[in-house]
Amino acid sequence: MNEPAPKHIINAAGRNAGPDVLLREAQLAKLHEATSKLSLFEFWGEDPADEHQATNRLQFRVAAAPYHWKYSEVRPCLLEAAKLIPLEMSERRSLIMTNPSLRPAIATVTTMFAAYRINVPHEIAPAHRHSPNAIRFGLTGHTNFTSVNGENITFGPGDMVLTPHDTWHNHGNGPDEASVNLSVLDMPLVNFLNATYFDHDYKEQVGSKVEKKKVQSAMVTDDYSQRIYGTAGLVPRHVSHSRGAGTSSPMFVYRWENTEALLARLRDDNGSPFEGILVEYVDPVKGGPVYKTVSFFVQLLRPGEKLLPVRSNANQICTVYRGRGRSVIGEGKNTATFDWENFDTFCIPGGEWHQHTNLSATEDAVIFISSDEPTLRKLGFAKRHGRNADGDLVLLESSTNHDE
Ligand SMILES: [Fe+2]
Repeated sequence: MNEPAPKHIINAAGRNAGPDVLLREAQLAKLHEATSKLSLFEFWGEDPADEHQATNRLQFRVAAAPYHWKYSEVRPCLLEAAKLIPLEMSERRSLIMTNPSLRPAIATVTTMFAAYRINVPHEIAPAHRHSPNAIRFGLTGHTNFTSVNGENITFGPGDMVLTPHDTWHNHGNGPDEASVNLSVLDMPLVNFLNATYFDHDYKEQVGSKVEKKKVQSAMVTDDYSQRIYGTAGLVPRHVSHSRGAGTSSPMFVYRWENTEALLARLRDDNGSPFEGILVEYVDPVKGGPVYKTVSFFVQLLRPGEKLLPVRSNANQICTVYRGRGRSVIGEGKNTATFDWENFDTFCIPGGEWHQHTNLSATEDAVIFISSDEPTLRKLGFAKRHGRNADGDLVLLESSTNHDE
């Protein structure tokens, strides 16, 4: 069927012309009504003064806003939850930081969420696994516990534990004290991809039978990750490096003492004027980020250090491990200024300029950063810019010039 050639009733300047103006407007209104009923988006512009109106309208999205959760305000809620929600009532007891601009989605930024989690002495939640990747980062207490694929990991402040995609794990706490940790999951991204599932039906081979169990039996020594992978640059050949589902770093715990020792060795370097001393947690076998989707960093800001502004299209969740400082996020009238201290969390949605300053003249500030940078990089979208001291734009990274 041939379509009829249209007769436009607008002049060369794109404006309504002649006596047909009213007729055209009536016809347009009718068209809007018809497309709306058919659930169609009109991909065109109707303002001749706005050359790119059509493509600008197409870029509408629900965007996360910079936001700051103060640990001093969250802590009383955590303690109250520990009192009121026993493990017998709920296997989980976390407070997820939800970005007000993304509600009703449960997300801190569009691809990740972070939560504070408290565990009291002697509790171990039943084993489970799920498709989202998760980490836990110790904040307080020395008896946080997670068994991952049969490795019993007790961890304290600054230790990072992986609970990777599709890998069985039990969360809990040892006998001595309550512990608080930060959990970060890529679940909003996995939800978006329709790939989320949870599995609570843990079974183990016991003799000739397969039995349902609540807690995993130890399958390797408690120090496995450190014993096998704890010496950077050396990897043993006699073990398989495919652990769990095989989609992550095989090193399931990164101990703070190693991170801290490295920061101490690097602290007199110049570092990057944009990112200071920034250290990434990597897969010791493949060298890349610990997960395919998200990566984790520790950033050291030395006393009084003020970094230059950076803009990345990766989303970041920043949790202050130590120190106090200020982060300015965004530009113009939408600028947010966050003054932070120990264990606070704030988010930097992708695309926002940000600038960190250590406000102490004598103490370090250390920030634990979760980022979806690996996803952007793999898809060829990653871009990072800085602004130098003269205010000029500097390209720091573009997927098109990255050697991955
Ligand atoms: Fe889990």
